Amino acid sequence: MTAVEAAPVGAPSAPDRRRVPALGNTDPALRAAWHPVLRLADLGDEPVAVRLLGEAWVVARLDGEVVVLADRCPHRLAPLSAGSVDRTGETDVLRCGYHGWCFDGGGTCTTIPALGPDARLPPRSAATTPAAVATHLGLVWVAPDAPRTPLPPDPLADDDRAAFLAGDLPTITCRAGAGLLVDNFLDMAHFPYVHAATIGTDEDPVVDPPVVEREGDAAMVVRSSHRFPNREDPEVVAGRRPLLQTRHVTYRYTAPFACSLRIDYEEAGGSNVITFFVQPVDDETCTIHTSVARDDIDHDPGRLAAAVAFEEGVVAEDLALQSAFVELALPLDLTAEVHTRADRVTVELRRILADLVGA
Ligand code: FES
Ligand code: CO
Repeated sequence: MTAVEAAPVGAPSAPDRRRVPALGNTDPALRAAWHPVLRLADLGDEPVAVRLLGEAWVVARLDGEVVVLADRCPHRLAPLSAGSVDRTGETDVLRCGYHGWCFDGGGTCTTIPALGPDARLPPRSAATTPAAVATHLGLVWVAPDAPRTPLPPDPLADDDRAAFLAGDLPTITCRAGAGLLVDNFLDMAHFPYVHAATIGTDEDPVVDPPVVEREGDAAMVVRSSHRFPNREDPEVVAGRRPLLQTRHVTYRYTAPFACSLRIDYEEAGGSNVITFFVQPVDDETCTIHTSVARDDIDHDPGRLAAAVAFEEGVVAEDLALQSAFVELALPLDLTAEVHTRADRVTVELRRILADLVGA
């Protein structure tokens, strides 16, 4: 006998015993994708520390440009976010708070004060940069490695933007799995149970099969229309429109963790657009960037505030369950869970993510 025991006859062969692939928040494959890291409105004059995929980055505005560097000075590894932006020179630089090394937006070290003004700077003095940075839909997006996914589309691209009033929910950071959060956002069968007190009150538990269209390797659009009792329509209350109305629902998903939901009300008119962008912070934590845009509230800030507060309540209902999941990774092996024909959309989500991470 050798030290390694032979598998008994009839035991599963090696491929059947492989680890079940599941997508955790810090899977290395997620580095080659776009992720939101900060709301632009939260970036002022000072550098801001953010975390993505378990790594620390610093976001700053230099000469009007948003720049992102690893939050680790190459000298003694101090966090650059503890430094400051020096705007006194010809170009803005990010100055480390420890020994004053300065970095431009490309990460190049421009000054090492301890060496004097004419010193030759060591080649390894540059700060690490991500492969790509973008500002898009009011957020700073980072791809640590060259992105294999597109930035998510603007859900109002085809609209008269001036007709909409938009507002952000407060940024939420909580214990959660990024894949699970997106799975939950795209899932239409949970409304009567998770949201019994809000959007699920009158919801029919039977899910009409939606139309699912893949858009390339990393995105899909999901459309469905259904009848619902529109109790909020003042014309219903006044008896001028029927209670049962039609709404058209469009979900747009872009891998790995970006979604929007658009609801168009046929009889009452008006559209409600919700964005839901998840930042995988570390193995157990996510930050959720979400916003609401409405064109049926007469540009009334009070009604927008009410819509934002309502959506906050809906998200809180979701997070109460999502934070309680013991295992936060999203299973990508389709045999690990039980799927029914009501789960068409969330099965497609798993396929897209499995392709992305090469599972
Ligand atoms: Fe940043 Fe020394 S640690 S300058
Ligand atoms: Co929900």
